[in-house]
Amino acid sequence: MFENKMRTGLFCGLLLCLLPVASAATDSEILNPRVPPDQIEEARSWVNPFPSTKENIEKGKALFTGKAFCVTCHGIDGRGFSDIPGLVGKLPRNFTDKVWQTTRKDGELLWILKNGSEGTAMAKFVPSVVTEEEAWHLILYVRSFGK
Ligand code: HEC
Repeated sequence: MFENKMRTGLFCGLLLCLLPVASAATDSEILNPRVPPDQIEEARSWVNPFPSTKENIEKGKALFTGKAFCVTCHGIDGRGFSDIPGLVGKLPRNFTDKVWQTTRKDGELLWILKNGSEGTAMAKFVPSVVTEEEAWHLILYVRSFGK
């Protein structure tokens, strides 16, 4: 009798410990800043000089699906592929995640486009593939997935 109660208690205790890990791990990890602590304050102060107009978002989309090939990993729906051959480490970000969208400042996204995300498949694109101005248009398009 006592032993049974102990077992049930132990089992429930274990479940309580494991449940939050299982349900929260992936989501909270993507919210961790990608910009190093010594640069994040500056990066967060960078403001997109281009307004979020239909034309500018279209320009960003053309780059996203065209010469900047973001679409190959992030997908036409912005949700990101999880089955890319040879992809190691973290998965491409799901841009439709509203919590992620509100956590990140535009400047942090520009920083990523200039520096990449170390240890992941997300490479740097500025200035080798796109100009900084084009990167800002890409960011307008990335933001449009959160609306
Ligand atoms: C080869 C695959 C690949 C391509 C191509 C790619 N990405 Fe990514 N991207 C990733 C991965 C993987 C991550 C997740 C990195 C991480 O978790 O730190 C990511 C993350 C991001 C993030 C989120 C960073 C953050 O702060 O959370 C942004 C924004 C982004 N990519 C934009 C782009 C844009 C714009 C392009 C095209 C210029 C692009 N990506 C092309 C794989 C790719």
